[in-house]
Amino acid sequence: MEINPVKGTHDIIGDEAEMYSFYEYDCRLMAELFGYKEIRTPIIEHTPLFLRSVGESSDIVTKEMYTFDDKGGRSLTLRPELTAGVMRSIVSNKLHANADLPLKYFYCGPCFRYERPQAGRYRQFHQFGVETVGVSSYLSDVEVIILGKRILESLGIDKVKVLINSLGDEESREAYRKALKEYFAKHIDKMCGDCKRRFEINPLRILDCKVPEDQEFIAGAPKMKDYLSDAAKLYMDNVEEALRKAGIDFEVDDNLVRGLDYYTGVVFEYHMEDDDIGAIGAGGHYKNLLKEVGGPDLEGVGLSFGLERLHYVFTKYHEERPQSGPDFYLMPMNDEAVDLAFSLADILRSNGFAAEMNYEPKSFKSSFKIAERKRSKFAIIIGEDEIAKKQITVKNLKTQEQSSVNTDDMLMVLRSMLEEYIQAQNVEEAEVK
Ligand code: HAM
Repeated sequence: MEINPVKGTHDIIGDEAEMYSFYEYDCRLMAELFGYKEIRTPIIEHTPLFLRSVGESSDIVTKEMYTFDDKGGRSLTLRPELTAGVMRSIVSNKLHANADLPLKYFYCGPCFRYERPQAGRYRQFHQFGVETVGVSSYLSDVEVIILGKRILESLGIDKVKVLINSLGDEESREAYRKALKEYFAKHIDKMCGDCKRRFEINPLRILDCKVPEDQEFIAGAPKMKDYLSDAAKLYMDNVEEALRKAGIDFEVDDNLVRGLDYYTGVVFEYHMEDDDIGAIGAGGHYKNLLKEVGGPDLEGVGLSFGLERLHYVFTKYHEERPQSGPDFYLMPMNDEAVDLAFSLADILRSNGFAAEMNYEPKSFKSSFKIAERKRSKFAIIIGEDEIAKKQITVKNLKTQEQSSVNTDDMLMVLRSMLEEYIQAQNVEEAEVK
């Protein structure tokens, strides 16, 4: 039996899992400040949803989807991203009918893409994202770009490059498509098979091609910015102006076309200035997506962060990581003390303290080693003496100070010890900053 995880998937365990919860929590808090409510959609969807939304010319649909027939013969797909499912859910539940617009949802969960695994690229990965649906003001695009930046700032991730571009409105895209067709017609017979297919379905996707031999042809291709209609130019100017006003540094990147077909108008990505892990987060405006999946004619904009990439960046730039351990580690020194420690641990937990213990008597030395490894704040020692005097011995594992506490007063005294410990820790952290 194969015991390794499936290629491109990974187990997230213990401290690492705690960090993922921390990113999720942080993203969620920030999204809530911007008025988003949570939405949880299924991991499997009917395959045509992704064909209609992510698009039949995208690499995701043509090469990367986990698609299978279920026992009832339905073609289902493990979601490669969450935006399409959110749109489907808005339509299925008629969310637009009963709420003030815009609808604002955030989500978090696993996605699946059959990609070549490498640093920051997995086959099962996790996204946190938001979607705003039902507003056509450029300010909704700006707000989402600002939210992404604020999320990164709140995680202490700076040195971020925000790239933006405009894919234009229908008029601009039609003109651009024509220009690309004319240009690539001269080169397509020398380009890769994927590009030949893209040329027929959607020449814009040729710009995503990573094949080295094709890059010289792509470099000479016409640029979207030269085909923007006046309306699309004005929209982009407004976005740029509002971002400047909000103090968000950005670069306009003509080559940013994004790999999903549903985008129209403004698209954007967040990259690290000094690391080539790929986009940590990305998003854009979609004018027709909701209509495309059977809903009303409402525009939307959204963004998603990859949690694995946030983790990569966070751990690269932060030596200090959030670490947690129990408040108290109970160390019984004999069999009778084990029973007592077990009851005390239960009392401590019922009163909101994190407590762990040795389930059998161990020497001082090995007990302290375990408590330190577990990053416990205090050790509680219970031996023959303590039992006779109805006391426990409490040791602060940072200062090494030790005192005896009567079991009757235990909760009150331990609470104030813990408060003092946390205060001292906060002062220490403030001094380091
Ligand atoms: P995306 O650019 O395909 O956009 O993915 C968003 C983010 O997911 C990427 O920036 C990256 O951090 C992460 N990601 C993508 N693929 C992988 C992978 N194989 N392994 C690890 N991380 C990955 C979307 O999915 C859109 N739904 C974003 C959006 C939301 N647009 C509008 N609303």
